[in-house]
This record gives sequence, structure tokens and C-alpha cells, in this order.
Amino acid sequence: MHEASHQLRCVGCGAVIQPATVEKDFRCIACSELLEVEYPSWSAAGEPSPGYSLGPRRMPNPGALRWLWRERLESRLPIDQSGVWRFRELLPILEDPEHAVTLREGNTPLYRLLQTAEGLGFEQLYAKHQGMNPTGSFKDTGMTAALSQARERGFQWVACASTGNTSAAMAAYAARARMNSLVLLPEGKISWSKLSQAIDHGAVTCQLKTDFDGCVRVLAEVVRRAPVYLLNSVNPYRLEGQKTPALEIAEEFDWQVPDHVIVPGGNLGNSSALGKGFLEMMHLGLSNKVPKITVVQAEGANPLYLSLLHCDGREIQPVEANTRATAIRIGNPASWRKAARVIHQTGGYCEQVSEAEIALAKAEIGQEGIGCEPASAVTLAGLKRLVRQGKIDRSESVVLLLTGHTLKDSEYTIDFHRDKLLTREESAGLERELSEKRHATLSLEASSDAVLRVLEAAIQT
Ligand code: F0G
Repeated sequence: MHEASHQLRCVGCGAVIQPATVEKDFRCIACSELLEVEYPSWSAAGEPSPGYSLGPRRMPNPGALRWLWRERLESRLPIDQSGVWRFRELLPILEDPEHAVTLREGNTPLYRLLQTAEGLGFEQLYAKHQGMNPTGSFKDTGMTAALSQARERGFQWVACASTGNTSAAMAAYAARARMNSLVLLPEGKISWSKLSQAIDHGAVTCQLKTDFDGCVRVLAEVVRRAPVYLLNSVNPYRLEGQKTPALEIAEEFDWQVPDHVIVPGGNLGNSSALGKGFLEMMHLGLSNKVPKITVVQAEGANPLYLSLLHCDGREIQPVEANTRATAIRIGNPASWRKAARVIHQTGGYCEQVSEAEIALAKAEIGQEGIGCEPASAVTLAGLKRLVRQGKIDRSESVVLLLTGHTLKDSEYTIDFHRDKLLTREESAGLERELSEKRHATLSLEASSDAVLRVLEAAIQT
């Protein structure tokens, strides 16, 4: 089961492409659309797999797989300790899984959100915290998959355009693999913590005087002109790694899967990957249903929301993106077609939320002792909107996907608590809720009297 038993299929025209002949920009030569990885040996008996010649159907056995994946939790092998490669039978993309470059990503916690659930009247509300990955974001799960491919194919250089987290992950995994990395970032529009990670891990880090979408355009030319391997989420191998949180969630729910999973939307690779994971699990008989997958965008970076509103996701109009949730400040998302398809296939929604709703939701998650970066908090803000609209019932089990660690953007958190984050207009209508969540830092004389006066006041409130 370990051979590279996969092929690539265009999501636009359906053309099948063999991995060895894929273009450097991972787009279809015929129609320029994105590709996805597929495993023809999983197709049901009698269902022909076009262009495929690996022999008879060898669909993995669900019961044996569940047992094997659980057994691996006891193993000391690095690839078994990885929450991505532990599930390697569902992503057989490497010639040899021992070639995997791993930092023990995945195996992230699923927390119950008790206070928030109580406030909203939910019985079962969870947060899957992908910020608990080695570099602090969900990008690690995709990076281990795609960078391992790059190494197997003999590349020395990898590259990405990023709002920060992809670059941090790529720089770290490239350093582990003793490869070189090139990072293009929108100058002044990413958090210092993310920039510091790329630098620390030795990436050639270029801040360009443009936004994320501009960095993507420049990188496309660089990749055409230089022997570098593209690691943005247009790379379909990234999504193979990013589908594994779906498996972890299903495993936690004893393979029953929750009713609803809510994901932030930026370049829209992650929602596509999770959808692929859940749909494949059902296809293979590992679970008996798929959750609804809902994507939430910031109001200032909402092209998928507008596309679904105006033309049911048939085409997309890029927007000039602007949000303080800088990770999802993306106006022209590459994987919009895949994400729209996942929403349609699973019966989910696409919602948008305001800057104040994001800040409030982030503070609420913080109060649960969990914390996340602003882009992750759109999930809770979106859930609240969907409940108000009657689209999610309080009896449903819901998982919010938290994509980044709270320390990824501490400037945002500090500005929020000092009331320097939002303008008066942005806070309008939510002033009371926001001020209840703000906590001051106090500057005191170095005396126990001063501290005790503060403590007394706090005990009385
Ligand atoms: N949340 C965080 C913390 C992110 O860093 C990103 C994307 C997203 C959500 C959105 O995920 O793009 O798959 O829809 N960050 C990218 C980056 C674009 O360069 O780090 P998506």
C-alpha cells in the first residue's frame, strides 16, 4: 500500500495527469484549473479509473485501518508519531513513507468549549486546535506532505507566498530537510511572530510592497523561471496532509463524525482539504456520514461569501482584501472552486463576520483558557450568526477549527485589551459585550499594599 499509487485530476475539465508530468504551477495545461490527488485503487469494484493501470481494486479495510492507526499511537517511529503519517494509508503519495519530513505534526487536541456552549445553549461544542502544531498553525499538516514530495523529487529549493503561517511552516520543514526556502510576504501586513519564524529557520525572506495576492502573482513568475518547488496550497499534496484533521476528528467521535464543522476561509485550501478528508472517509466506509462544512470569511475579505450569494459559487470576483485577521486577508482565493464544491456537497454554508465580531469571539475563546489567533476566531463569530439565522440548531454537535496559536499575533490581543484595536464605528452595537471582555494590565508601586488593594477590588466585583 506504500507505493505512490495516485494520480492528479483537474477540478475544472476532469483531465487526468500523471504526477511525473505535472506543471510547476500545479494547474491543468488545458484549462488552468487546480488539480487534486486521487487514488484510483479506491474506486468501487467495476468502476473504471481512467488513465490508471495499477491493477485490481485494493480498497483499504476500514476496521483494520482504525485498529492500525490506534496501534501506531504507541509506536516510537517518527512517522507513526506524526498525526499525518499515522494515517499514511489515506495519503499514499510518497514512494517511501520513510522519506517523510516530520516535526511530529498533528494529533492536536479537541477541546470542549463549555462556557461558550452554555452561553449559546449548545450541548456539544468543540474546538479542534490546529494551532497546537509544531510551528503553531494547521499549515504543518500540509507542509509535511508537500515538502516530503519536493524532497523525494530531488528539489533543493521550495517557495511560497504567504500571509505568515505557511512561510513559518515551510521554513521550519525545509530546515529539517536541509533544503532551502524562499518566502514572499506582503510588507507590513503580517504579524511579527510569523515573520520571526521564517527568519529564524533560515528562509530567504522577501517582504514585497504589495498584498498577498500580489505576492502570489510574483511567485508564479519566479517558479516559472527558477528551479523552485511551489508550496502554496495550489499544490495538491498540501491538501492531502491537511485532510488528516478530519480523520482525527472522526476518530475522537468514535467514527460517527459531528454534525457540523466550521472553518475559516482565506485562500480556501483548508476547507477543501477537510471536505476531501470527510468525503473520502465516507467513501471508504470509515464513517457513515459527512458533517456540513461551513466556511467563514472576514467581511473585508469575503470573495467566496459574495460568490455564493450572487451566483451560487459558479464564478468569483476578486476583492481588495482588508481585515485585521491578517492570516485571511486574501482577495483572490486560489481554491475557491474546490471550497464551493465542498460546501455544496456537504450542505454547509458560507458566512461573513465583522471585525468587532471577530475580536469578541477571539476574547471569548481566550476566556476558555484556549486562545487562538484572530483568523481562527471567525469560526465562533460565524457560528453565532448562523444560530441567529436559524441555520444551525442548538442540538447539533459542532466543531470549530482553530487554525492558529494565540501567540501568532499577540499585538492584536494587546491592542484589543487596551481598546486600541477597533474604531468607534466598528464597535457600534457591540460596545457592552466588547468592554466586558477587555482586561487591563495595571502598573503599580512595588508594594504588597498596592497589590492587595487591587486584589480586594477584584474579589468584590
Ligand atoms: N487561519 C490561519 C491561521 C491561516 O494562516 C490561514 C491561511 C487561514 C486560516 C485560511 O486558510 O487559506 O486554507 O483558507 N494562511 C495562509 C498563509 C494563506 O499564507 O499562511 P486557507
